[in-house]
Amino acid sequence: MLNNPGLYVHFPWCIKKCPYCDFNSHPLKDDVDQQRYLNSLLEDWQEQITSTFADAKDTQSLDIGFKTVFFGGGTPSLFKPHLMAILLNELPLAPDAEITMEANPGTQEYTDFEEYLSAGINRLSIGAQSFQNSQLEKLGRVHNRDETIAAVAKAKSAGFTNINIDLMWGLPGQSLEDALFDLESAISLSPQHISWYQLTIEAKTEFAKRPPLLPIDGILAEIENAGNVLLASRGYHRYEISAYAKDGAYCHHNINYWSFGDYVGLGAGAHGKVSNARGVLRTQKASQPRLYQNEPRKTSYQTVTKSQLTLEFMMNALRLIDGTDIQTFTEKTGLQWQSIQPQWEALAQQGLVQTNRCSTTELGLRYLDTVLEKFVS
Ligand SMILES: C[S@@+](CC[C@H](N)C(=O)[O-])C[C@H]1O[C@@H](n2cnc3c(N)ncnc32)[C@H](O)[C@@H]1O
Ligand code: SF4
Repeated sequence: MLNNPGLYVHFPWCIKKCPYCDFNSHPLKDDVDQQRYLNSLLEDWQEQITSTFADAKDTQSLDIGFKTVFFGGGTPSLFKPHLMAILLNELPLAPDAEITMEANPGTQEYTDFEEYLSAGINRLSIGAQSFQNSQLEKLGRVHNRDETIAAVAKAKSAGFTNINIDLMWGLPGQSLEDALFDLESAISLSPQHISWYQLTIEAKTEFAKRPPLLPIDGILAEIENAGNVLLASRGYHRYEISAYAKDGAYCHHNINYWSFGDYVGLGAGAHGKVSNARGVLRTQKASQPRLYQNEPRKTSYQTVTKSQLTLEFMMNALRLIDGTDIQTFTEKTGLQWQSIQPQWEALAQQGLVQTNRCSTTELGLRYLDTVLEKFVS
């Protein structure tokens, strides 16, 4: 049975494509018909509610409504707030649902922050990436440092009290000082949450074709250590590899992913994960906006096999600094803990995982790939 699923809604357009990005995003052209995309999302929802929630018990689990909604992209803040409001009105939402929207600075739309708040969005994730203009240029961003600062100020004055800032580190030519400057700049804006991602060069991106010069391993290690110390000293609690929250302002939507919870995915290229009588299923929608809008009801389903389940659970749960308890493994995968006991004990002997929790040690977190290799079948 679906257990309080989250909802992810994808918006596949951006002003322009950033050279490091492999998300499903397409350059925005003037002729994007937003009303048509909204209609597609509504149709998609109708299809998923009838097929995915076909079981009466599953429908019951939706009676309480989605506890979290995440509008991600692409650039969802290019989407008109009144259309977001229409969509949110059609969805079953828990009364205190966390509703996040990703917003890019420098795209005009942040003048509408009040309207997004009235539409029901109560958490903003602002993509700063860096606070150095020269770096922002290298990253192909459409905004500069001042525009990011202005976006955060406007979000606050509009009434947002739950703001995340996305930053990346290990950027082309970045020194330790540069990375700490970025973190200090973000912290000085007092967001409730900071996501601090190490830049990865993804296949088929511009950066993969023309690789920039990245910091050497020694500098990367220094940045990671000093950044973690700085964030902790300013009250940002690291609860996942790249996520830091102040005063308990965790991102519940992402915690649901990392705890291997269920979620419904709407929109071009959106993925979902649902557990029902058929097992654990992955859902996927067409990535191309044109194809998606031509056939918004078309959903492909793939059953996660038993051997994939363990690895998928570990890939998520072990990103959490505290992992999960052992029962959660059985609850979410339907597998017995004993089925992985031999691998787990071997890892515990190497000091990579805890003995009484499904969680890594500090060492294991640093060598997460080595830990995960044990669960590749
Ligand atoms: C869905 S993405 C984009 C959100 C928004 N469109 C933006 O760019 O600000 C969410 C975050 O992932 C991070 N990200 C994207 N590509 C990355 C990469 N190649 N390596 C590390 N982090 C990446 C960025 O920090 C980004 O803000
Ligand atoms: S704005 Fe965000 S989603 Fe769009 S291309 Fe850049 S990184 Fe990717």
